[in-house]
Amino acid sequence: MERRAASRRGQPAYGHDALIACDRLVRVFTTDGVEVQALQGLDLLVAEGELMALVGASGSGKSTLMNILAGLDVPTAGAAKVAGRDLLTMDAKARLGYRRDVVGFVWQQTARNLLPYLTALQNVTLPMQLRGGRRRAARTKAAVELLSMLALDHCRDRRPHQLSGGEQQRTAIAVALANTPSVLLADEPTGELDSHTAEQVFTAFRTANEELGTTIVIVTHDQAVASEVRRTVAIRDGRTSSEVLRRTERDAATGQESLVAREYAMLDRAGRLQLPAEYTSSLGMEYRVLLELESDHIGVWPDRTADGAGRGRGGAGEDGAKGSGVAEDGGEAS
Ligand SMILES: Nc1ncnc2c1ncn2[C@@H]1O[C@H](COP(=O)(O)OP(=O)(O)OP(=O)(O)O)[C@@H](O)[C@H]1O
Ligand SMILES: [Mg+2]
Repeated sequence: MERRAASRRGQPAYGHDALIACDRLVRVFTTDGVEVQALQGLDLLVAEGELMALVGASGSGKSTLMNILAGLDVPTAGAAKVAGRDLLTMDAKARLGYRRDVVGFVWQQTARNLLPYLTALQNVTLPMQLRGGRRRAARTKAAVELLSMLALDHCRDRRPHQLSGGEQQRTAIAVALANTPSVLLADEPTGELDSHTAEQVFTAFRTANEELGTTIVIVTHDQAVASEVRRTVAIRDGRTSSEVLRRTERDAATGQESLVAREYAMLDRAGRLQLPAEYTSSLGMEYRVLLELESDHIGVWPDRTADGAGRGRGGAGEDGAKGSGVAEDGGEAS
């Protein structure tokens, strides 16, 4: 017992090298005596410099998570750290500093991101002004550069109503980047845009990620956006359930490059794993499954005991089930 505790002490803490680390995050809302568990023990690690997407059905908890990461809401339980700041224990002053200096935010509603009576340039210099410390000329220069980086030179002196929806969202990205935050969070930033404009807005995020090294998390329903990032994490019922990783592979014979996407299931810290419903239902797996540890993978079989078999809905036969129920290579990248 003592030895086990000692060896655990020697191990680095969960997510110690991640820029964003959510550890069994819980958020419960209570309205009129009814409890809603928006986040139910969500784990998520995001490395510095990543550009990643979060997807999930409506009500799965995406915005709840984003509001917590933005420092606008406090989780009920669990742990959340961003750039070394503890989001649960920050006091009001630290929270304000966190929102001003560490995170930038882009909302879905274009109108919510910009002040209508200020020009694009003034909108970008405003957060710099609120932080203080830089002279006016330096602020203007930095803002001009940000707008230029996002191909918005022509929008500099225009007010939001004189900008297209896509230009407004790109200006919003410039505003969010004004104080060079470590993390840029965007909740459905292309939700109100057509696909062509959405593509341009996504390009602006990519530019920010590549040119400034900003870590970016985008919540999206847009399959095109989700498939353009290297990592897409799916949230289901308030938990991260699966993850798609994409990488370019070169065919050794033809030299041709292609994008390879693989879907992984998330293994939480208690060892829990969610099996895709298509898999379990096709094998009639319900309630209880049989596990076997092999040298390089874990096998998962339908329960065939007398009382277990009665629960299954048939599914594959004994022989077929055994082969196809195997979780090959345990989800590790090869
Ligand atoms: N302030 C709140 N008070 C009560 N319940 C809330 C509150 N905010 C969110 N919820 C509930 O928490 C759950 C998760 O909501 P959330 O807004 O995080 O979902 P979402 O994944 O962002 O959905 P969408 O894709 O529709 O934006 C929902 O059941 C929602 O009704
Ligand atoms: Mg939402």
